[in-house]
Amino acid sequence: MKRTNTHRISPLGIIIGKTDTGERLQISLGHTLIVGATGSGKGSVLWSYLIGAQHYLDMQQQGLFLLGYDPKRSELAQVQGNRFFRVVFETDDALELIRTLVHKMRQRQQAGTRTFKPTAQDPFTLLVIDEFNSLTTAGDNAWRKEIKANMMALLSQGRSAGIYIVAAAQQPQKEAIGDYRQHFMNRICLRVENAMEVDMVLGAGAVEQGAEAHLISPATESNGYLTAGIGYTRTDSEPRPVRFRAPRITDGDIALWCSGGEL
Ligand SMILES: Nc1ncnc2c1ncn2[C@@H]1O[C@H](COP(=O)(O)OP(=O)(O)OP(=O)(O)O)[C@@H](O)[C@H]1O
Ligand SMILES: [Mg+2]
Repeated sequence: MKRTNTHRISPLGIIIGKTDTGERLQISLGHTLIVGATGSGKGSVLWSYLIGAQHYLDMQQQGLFLLGYDPKRSELAQVQGNRFFRVVFETDDALELIRTLVHKMRQRQQAGTRTFKPTAQDPFTLLVIDEFNSLTTAGDNAWRKEIKANMMALLSQGRSAGIYIVAAAQQPQKEAIGDYRQHFMNRICLRVENAMEVDMVLGAGAVEQGAEAHLISPATESNGYLTAGIGYTRTDSEPRPVRFRAPRITDGDIALWCSGGEL
């Protein structure tokens, strides 16, 4: 597991992959949106982010409280174990989980500190949502309405209460992402269908500045998933979009990490 050292030596941020020049790409702990067509490798980026976040916080002797919602029962289907406190798959459970998180946020806000100070009993909390687009399509009107109100609260106020969302979505359009998009500090665009979608994810002018995520060719079994995990993002230190590739993370890696092992 070559990645161990790469993560360990950098306390500055969360390493999610390597740039074309071989440098480690770091992003900050924050609400993170990963968009890409089916098979583009959102899973690789998602797991790199989670594993990277754990390393980053480990180095500061801080913990990470992980929660998940996976309506497709794919990415998070096998993660129950030491690392995740709770993972849900059904709409009703998702609403209950998200409500509980908002409650936790309100309690932390009551403490009245401007910046959340994590402790061993009360660490940073991260909610992973795979298939984020389902928030605008699943359930009935009442479900969507309540999910939206709670998610907007988490996205707009969660950061200062130490609560973050990491979401993976196939579609970046407003109908699919709702009003959530602007609240994601980190936005990552893997292969998408057209240039407009790239700008929707990374912001107007991203394509012009070189984020050609619409030109990435599909990764398939027959080409050995040659392009999976390749994408673009903007970082704090570099306003121009940077191309990078997240490493492949196998089911075995995920099982090992989720049961408390190190990668
Ligand atoms: N960095 C990588 N290197 C090599 N193969 C990869 C990499 N990232 C992902 N893959 C492979 O590409 C395939 C698709 O990846 P993944 O399941 O993460 O896609 P996805 O974007 O989540 O798709 P979906 O929206 O359908 O869930 C998987 O078989 C995965 O093993
Ligand atoms: Mg996926």
